[in-house]
Amino acid sequence: MDKTMLKEQVEIIRQAFGYINQFKGETFVIKLEGSLIAHHLFPLLIRDLVLLHRMGINVILVPGARDRINEVLKKYAIKCRTVNGVRVSPPEAIPLIKMAAFDVTNKIMTMLAENGANGVIGNWVRAKSIGVRNGVDFQCSGLVEKVQIDIVNKVLGEGLIPIFPTIGWSAKGRPYNLSSSEIAFSISVELNAAKLFFIADRPGVTAQGYKIPKEVYVSSDGVVSQLTKAQAGEFLDLNARDSYDEQLDLVAYAYRACKGGVQRVHVIDGRVEGMLLKEIFSNRGFGTMIYANQHDNIRPMVMGDVPEVLRLMQPSIEEGVLVHRTETDLAEYIDNYAVYEVDGTIHACAALQVYSGRQAEIAGMVVDETYSNLGIGKRMVSYLIEQATAKKLKAVFVLTTQTSDWFSHMGFSQGKIADLPPERRKNYNRKRNPLILRYKLSRHRTKGSLRVE
Ligand code: ARG
Repeated sequence: MDKTMLKEQVEIIRQAFGYINQFKGETFVIKLEGSLIAHHLFPLLIRDLVLLHRMGINVILVPGARDRINEVLKKYAIKCRTVNGVRVSPPEAIPLIKMAAFDVTNKIMTMLAENGANGVIGNWVRAKSIGVRNGVDFQCSGLVEKVQIDIVNKVLGEGLIPIFPTIGWSAKGRPYNLSSSEIAFSISVELNAAKLFFIADRPGVTAQGYKIPKEVYVSSDGVVSQLTKAQAGEFLDLNARDSYDEQLDLVAYAYRACKGGVQRVHVIDGRVEGMLLKEIFSNRGFGTMIYANQHDNIRPMVMGDVPEVLRLMQPSIEEGVLVHRTETDLAEYIDNYAVYEVDGTIHACAALQVYSGRQAEIAGMVVDETYSNLGIGKRMVSYLIEQATAKKLKAVFVLTTQTSDWFSHMGFSQGKIADLPPERRKNYNRKRNPLILRYKLSRHRTKGSLRVE
């Protein structure tokens, strides 16, 4: 195995250890899109869910039944219309809808058994009727009124996996057809789950056709990797529309779940093998995460970070892009450095070296390749500029052979050797001949004044 590959794999294993500690004993509510059940990789997904359960995560499953209900209703030639993504369920369809919903849960239970895990299907959701909305009578389609969490907790306490059919019952025992997304959302909030998953037949939250809030980055495959709770709210406001939209529906549930106390909501693609494990156990994930708790931040470097920062710098040093630095160098200049940390792992670093004449150099900047094109470099530079402003400096500069365009784009302008502080001028490497890019700091400049990429 080549060294880079080994390094990458070891890196993922380290990240996984961190998450195992973090998530053990937590509750994950997982909605499984019904259409996935027929997918050839679905048994592997169930196997992965059982692994999570064995690891000590409280797994709760809510399989969607839309496709199965359609199939059954078609067979019995019952037509139901859908209004705003909600099926109008006439009373005569209810026995068939119930049958289809339980078909799906039974199937999941059998698959759990095949993997040596025990599931329990229950009637733990109290429902109420949607009633008549905008002149449409939704008949036996309902809304979640309450989840009987005491029973669900008991089931979890017994080491069983609760499986929720998409049916709820009124206080009098009348069955209603419910949305699996709403059920999963309600359970996650009522149980104060750490995570809610929408395992879907889509690659996550995609950008095409939607307005994306500023500061939100879209990966090269068009997927929004993460949204804070506030950004999710902004995404919904920017894209508000009258007609039903499945993606907006999911983001709205995610947003409400975060507001209701769920820490992280994930929308991931159930058609890709291993995506669930990748999303849970790696920093970068695979799909979209909408989150309410701290995930990443930029902070000053501390001694304990030094080995990780050296590891991060190594490839750039080998490539000759970065000057060689030792542990002692980093320790000596520790106060100059800032790091970008994601759930306890460092993925970027940069330093601010102050010189005479109230000038400072931005140096030693590295962004881990897995985090490139996500605006991390810009966040690091903004952070250092804020530091420089707080120190009442006049200007920051950077010497670069490769990234001058990037800095120009952020508002840096080209400077001359004569602009450098004398002690830096002395060390200027004429053979390497890097460009000098400067950014003047005005006393009135405040946070966020850096030009947007
Ligand atoms: N593994 C972490 C978690 O499960 C982070 C996942 C980040 N995912 C993303 N799509 N950005 O909480």
